[in-house]
Amino acid sequence: MIIDGLNSASIAQAADVIAAAGLVGLPTETVYGLAADAANEAAVAKIFTAKGRPSEHPLIVHVANSLSASRFASEIPDFAQKLMDAFWPGPLTLILPRRPEIASAAAGGQNSVGLRCPSHPVALALLKACAARGIHGLAAPSANQFGRVSPTTAAHVQGEFGDDLLILNGGACSVGIESTIVDCSRGVPVLLRPGVLTTTQIEFACGQNLTSNSLSKEELLRQSTRRLEPDLIPLEAAPRASGMLESHYAPKAKLRLMDAKALQTALDILGTDAKHIAVYSRQQMHSASTTLIFRRMPEDAGLAAQQLFATLRELDQPDIKLIWVETPPEDSAWDGVLDRVTRAAA
Ligand code: TXA
Ligand code: MG
Repeated sequence: MIIDGLNSASIAQAADVIAAAGLVGLPTETVYGLAADAANEAAVAKIFTAKGRPSEHPLIVHVANSLSASRFASEIPDFAQKLMDAFWPGPLTLILPRRPEIASAAAGGQNSVGLRCPSHPVALALLKACAARGIHGLAAPSANQFGRVSPTTAAHVQGEFGDDLLILNGGACSVGIESTIVDCSRGVPVLLRPGVLTTTQIEFACGQNLTSNSLSKEELLRQSTRRLEPDLIPLEAAPRASGMLESHYAPKAKLRLMDAKALQTALDILGTDAKHIAVYSRQQMHSASTTLIFRRMPEDAGLAAQQLFATLRELDQPDIKLIWVETPPEDSAWDGVLDRVTRAAA
């Protein structure tokens, strides 16, 4: 059931569900999450079951502020504190050493924990209402079935989990792709997942170089024809990886990345035979086919991120077998979008 997240009665209703060890569909500025009390093992187990996600795969714990972060993190290095000060509330997750007595199931048994303070007003309202009930962290992965495209509207979440789930409606997500993840548990900041924050912004905020543990752009593009381990960058950094080989952020149609020239050439060769194909590109393409579906990708990286998952869902219709996406520009602002489309192509 979708209820209005801006209504205080809805927030109270959702907080009661969380306090009763239930699940709630939660809007954040990045993507919608599937939330439960991070300190309640039985509640967290419901997330893994609902998503079909392996239980050793750690979840992000959402907190109302950096003070609540200390309830879960045993230690906050100076550079991590600077990152919190600069980007919280916002689309940044920090991996920190975990207090051993708390949120073990949410952390997938790791001795670290992923923490994020979201900026969405509905998420913050729920976190505060939960804190008033003695619950100081909400474990919430993206609210999609394991391996599928992340949801950016309440309707997407309902499509994934049905009408029994209580979903707070917070409108369409403004960021559109998942948070940037920086591992702060190894003495130096290490980028685990790119998002909309640029390397320059992160380095400026923490006064340290960011070690990129993610694959190089060339490597990402090379791998786009292969299958990647779900959600983890790079594969060897995967903490207790599930070992399941499954593409991530994947639509049902087959997604392929091509530069504008290759895309136009392919359309020219196919001519009127270009059927069951959708094209998502920044440049205008031409085709003799009358059935070709075309969507324009914004020139602005932030807008492209915001629209990416909703557009992939929209193009992923039963009669579409191929989605051809123009390769994003080689500009750090596009790293998050490049990462997600590469994974979707895997
Ligand atoms: O924007 C977001 O981060 C969204 C919204 C709902 O906040 N959440 C999200 O969660 O994307 P999820 O579960 O789909 O992705 C969480 C990622 C996974 O790749 C997981 O491996 C990593 O965070 N992660 C969480 N805790 C970790 C830990 N202790 N060590 C290493 N990686 C961790
Ligand atoms: Mg996810």
